[in-house]
Amino acid sequence: MKKRVLSGIKPTGNLTLGNYLGALKHFAKYQDEHEVFIFIADLHALTLPIEPEVLRKLTRDIVAFYLASNLDPSKTTIFLQSQVSEHSELNAILQNYLYMGELNRMTQFKDLSLKMKQSAIGLGLFAYPVLMASDILLYDAQIVPVGEDQKQHVELTRDLVDRFNKRYGNILVMPEPVISKVGARIMSLSNPLQKMSKSDPKGDVFLLDDLKVIEKKIMAAVTDSGSEIKYDVKNKPGISNLISIYASIENITTKDVEEKFKNSQYGEFKKAVAMCVINELGPFKKRYEEIINSSLIEETLAEGALKAKKIAKQTLSRVQKAVGLLHVE
Ligand code: TRP
Repeated sequence: MKKRVLSGIKPTGNLTLGNYLGALKHFAKYQDEHEVFIFIADLHALTLPIEPEVLRKLTRDIVAFYLASNLDPSKTTIFLQSQVSEHSELNAILQNYLYMGELNRMTQFKDLSLKMKQSAIGLGLFAYPVLMASDILLYDAQIVPVGEDQKQHVELTRDLVDRFNKRYGNILVMPEPVISKVGARIMSLSNPLQKMSKSDPKGDVFLLDDLKVIEKKIMAAVTDSGSEIKYDVKNKPGISNLISIYASIENITTKDVEEKFKNSQYGEFKKAVAMCVINELGPFKKRYEEIINSSLIEETLAEGALKAKKIAKQTLSRVQKAVGLLHVE
């Protein structure tokens, strides 16, 4: 059965191999079977301070990465959150159905706000999950591929759907978070206990890094004591991370990787990982280079916004009517 799939990436930093394996590579897999909406969460990017020119650049980058990862705009609707005003309109309604206590319990908010000055925490950061729920519900999405860190926000969206539908009838579609097993948790190469985020130049492989730099970073990855290539996240986090990367790119299991390298030394294995990453990212980066300075980006976004708006309008109108907003055509 054809399902609605929706996901997005927030343009807040340079994308990494973790984003590629955890998100980009998976998105394209859905488009032949399902109806897919993939967007750039640019309004969400504003929830933490960001320079306008940085936001603009990162936004274009992500569109180019989407296209370079073989998302086909004739199959997948690729659009910008801020260009479909229904996101903000639904947000204005749904904010009344999530409660302060619930938002206060979100780990992303707790982690971020702990590091910030109380007086500088924006309302948007607090209300982040409401906008995210609006993104999801606007498209009646059934499947929402996300990283482990965003699962809680999708769960909260599910609570919202329950609450809303109990009150108004069957109006919103229940979404399901899908966390990709392999590739969902690519860790930093310099500290394999920490996720590969968008902020550690040594431990992160950035998609925009030169291939030579990528090779160097992988060869310099922290490994563990011992010499066996064994997938054991607890005792061998460094090697396990490299195994995950290899398995994810080659589409094989971590067991297959162990078997393949059972007679290899760490150095040899790292070299193989580096080569496999380069073989994957080389052609991908080349496609990115071809796209990034072309008008294909603007064309894709313009067309995507139109397609997205068509669906978004219908859902918004359904919700408006349900809650009693007077509908004047
Ligand atoms: N919060 C997501 C992230 O940081 C991005 C996002 C915004 C998203 N809205 C979404 C993902 C809706 C899935 C569905 O990665």
